[in-house]
Amino acid sequence: MAFKVGLLGLGTVGVGTVEILQNPAQRHPLLQDVVIHKVGVRSLDKSRSITVPTDSLTTDLESIVTDPDIDIVVEVIGGLEPARSLMLKAIEHGKHVVTANKAAIARFGDEIFTAAAEAGVYVLLEAAVGGGIPVIEPLKQSLCANRLNTVIGIINGTTNYILTRMQLEGGDFADILADAQTLGYAEADPTADIDGLDAADKIAILAALSFGGRIKLPDVHCEGIRHVSAVEIAYAEKLGFVIKLLAIARRASETTDQLEVRVHPTLVPKSHPLASVNDVYNAILIEGDPIGQVMFFGRGAGAGPTASAVVSDILNIAALLTIGHGEAKQVDGKPLLDPLLACS
Ligand code: HSE
Repeated sequence: MAFKVGLLGLGTVGVGTVEILQNPAQRHPLLQDVVIHKVGVRSLDKSRSITVPTDSLTTDLESIVTDPDIDIVVEVIGGLEPARSLMLKAIEHGKHVVTANKAAIARFGDEIFTAAAEAGVYVLLEAAVGGGIPVIEPLKQSLCANRLNTVIGIINGTTNYILTRMQLEGGDFADILADAQTLGYAEADPTADIDGLDAADKIAILAALSFGGRIKLPDVHCEGIRHVSAVEIAYAEKLGFVIKLLAIARRASETTDQLEVRVHPTLVPKSHPLASVNDVYNAILIEGDPIGQVMFFGRGAGAGPTASAVVSDILNIAALLTIGHGEAKQVDGKPLLDPLLACS
């Protein structure tokens, strides 16, 4: 059974996605069945670091989401529109959707998931929060037996990279930001990173998954790192703290469903597990009952880590469809979802 993918966007994450899908060392047994059928780009003339068959490239993004041959639409163009409309149209046409788009999901998640439920298709978004860190699917599945109380994260790689370098080397904010952009960490408009808006979108998604219901973005208190100075970082250091941009969602008390959700620079004691999360790394510390504390850690931005989450979502949908079609696949006599096989 072949799974035809329509890729919307060939920027940093799109290129990373194609690189993994084309990498012969990627040994997931379903990979041989995943085919990049069409790739939607802004310009056909741009020179690219990867080779995609020219007849698969198109600037007509709508033709991808309505193409009857495509099974899975991968949305990595980012931003609100046309991303939202394209995802909804893809769903309307019976496509499963994989997205890295935290801004669209934080605002239009209700509409998108309602449409997906009505159409009976999957929408997976592991890449939307924490880059390569698996946190969305663990929240949906492996932690669902818990009553969660707190989610605290460093979930913006760009600001963590900037704060880490300011702390370790001193250095000029603008120069370090330019490096983060060159490395492909920052958003096209870095304001979303620097002013905490990107982290606010992500914590709204994590809070909705952790506590249920919908988090309205205007209810998320949001303050970025623009005003954090080298002097403040040095004083914090002397007092035994580091300054981190934390995204926090917690129940106002253990017995209530009332939430507080906020993003702001925070003094973190050096002994705290989040204090040593540096550079582009992200971490999410979750506390719940009965599990206690769980922490997820990894690279939170950049082409490779984010594409890792995108491709895993594609393969997970392919696995669900394979099993759903009653064709539980076997490789070398072992069932596809055998965890030992996945690790071998
Ligand atoms: N600009 C984002 C960050 C990319 O720096 O974390 C990943 O969402």
